[in-house]
Amino acid sequence: MGILEIATYPDRFLRQASKPVEEIDGMIQDLIDDMAATMYQAPGVGLAATQVRFNKSILIYDLYLKEGRGALEVLINPKIIEGEGEIISESEGCLSVPDFRADVNRFSRILVEGLDRNGRPRRFETDGFLATVLQHEIDHLNGKLFIDHISALKRELYKRQVRKKLKSK
Ligand code: NI
Repeated sequence: MGILEIATYPDRFLRQASKPVEEIDGMIQDLIDDMAATMYQAPGVGLAATQVRFNKSILIYDLYLKEGRGALEVLINPKIIEGEGEIISESEGCLSVPDFRADVNRFSRILVEGLDRNGRPRRFETDGFLATVLQHEIDHLNGKLFIDHISALKRELYKRQVRKKLKSK
């Protein structure tokens, strides 16, 4: 298993929409293993393939890492079929948007569809933190970042911070 480099804003790859996975072969399985190793090392609760510069519709997550009982979940070609309600995801962050957090409006409840790593269909409703994580990761697969959901003013603040950091390198 290998650790992959996580692309960070303003890397253009993060703006690409991913392509659906047509066949779940050994290469895809290897990519999932590498994504998992990368996510656990970071550490993060979720990771999308576009964050490690693979143009594939794959996301992984594990909400139990903090409790020390990891349970890796995989969703291939995920789609939000329905979203309802509104929730503020407080202080949302992202491995691709380092050193910045913001409150983001999300659906409070979603119906999600996709495939597991063996190609079996998954379809479930969820709410709370998992609903937020899935919306965040599915955004990545559509070339979107959580900073796209915040006010222009806050986004400008972050951009300025990044520009400053890039200059000082
Ligand atoms: Ni993210």
